[in-house]
Amino acid sequence: MIKKTLKINGVERILILDKDETLAQVLRNHLLLTGCKIGCGEGHCGACNVIMNGKVTRSCIYKMSRVPDNAEITTIEGVGTISDMHPIQVAWMAYGCAQCGFCSPGFIISAKVLLDNNPSPTRKEVRDWFNKQRNLCRCTGYKPLIDATMAAAAVMRGEMTKEDLV
Ligand code: FES
Repeated sequence: MIKKTLKINGVERILILDKDETLAQVLRNHLLLTGCKIGCGEGHCGACNVIMNGKVTRSCIYKMSRVPDNAEITTIEGVGTISDMHPIQVAWMAYGCAQCGFCSPGFIISAKVLLDNNPSPTRKEVRDWFNKQRNLCRCTGYKPLIDATMAAAAVMRGEMTKEDLV
């Protein structure tokens, strides 16, 4: 067993864990943060993405023994709330980015890290970023996801409001 102190969605958590558990198992099974999904479980699809210390992280393959103490982790639950959704979440709805919705949390996490670091990406940069992150969607195709990310970026830059999206 190992002890980890983590800041998850802004809340400090002190956890006693099996070191072989993955971050996704801990988030989903112990903390009931089920927004990160287990798709492939092998690090290929990005459904399990969370942000750890500012980086997109595949939680399904990230063993707790490797998670740095005092790591700051953001799951999809920490990106926005039902009453105050993040612009990316609003754009995801407005552009019809979800059919089954299974990939949405992972894509939104990837999009957030991109826009936090590059507030004015080109469409090519958004497409290249999702390709680099290897997020997979098997329902919608990728164009709505790029459209939504571009629109969310405009909201985050203050050029339009979330209400303009819907
Ligand atoms: Fe983690 Fe697919 S579930 S990458």
